[in-house]
Amino acid sequence: MKNQLETLIQSATDAYQNAYAPYSHFHVGAAVVDEHGHVHTGCNVENAAYPSGSCAEEQAIGSMVAGGGRRIREIVVIGRSEELITPCGACRQRIRELGDDQTRIHICDIDRGHLRTFTIEELLPESFGPENLS
Ligand code: THU
Repeated sequence: MKNQLETLIQSATDAYQNAYAPYSHFHVGAAVVDEHGHVHTGCNVENAAYPSGSCAEEQAIGSMVAGGGRRIREIVVIGRSEELITPCGACRQRIRELGDDQTRIHICDIDRGHLRTFTIEELLPESFGPENLS
């Protein structure tokens, strides 16, 4: 029987297979678990007008919000690279908005599986968040 992380990696892999990346050819998939235990997936969706493309994490987080989730408990990011595919700066800020210190960010590779797990504090220290506006 697969454990929870393996199941989440499989969901992110399914999204990775559907990535639309005709310009970079760099496919990325993401899968989020929300506070209800529901899984939401996303993939990168590029655009001929390059800045209009979006990241896999962005799509997965948007899907979570549209599905009624408000907190990111876990997020898997997967692609194929020698390097760790850690979220870009804007996606770190998105995870910061809807995650907390318990949120786990799992970086995975299609061939090598799970590589590293981070907290948002590790990826975006001294960050600006909702509390700063209260
Ligand atoms: N990309 C993601 O979707 N997530 C990441 O964490 C890193 C980069 C996408 C954006 C773009 O479509 C392609 O990968 C190359 O940067």
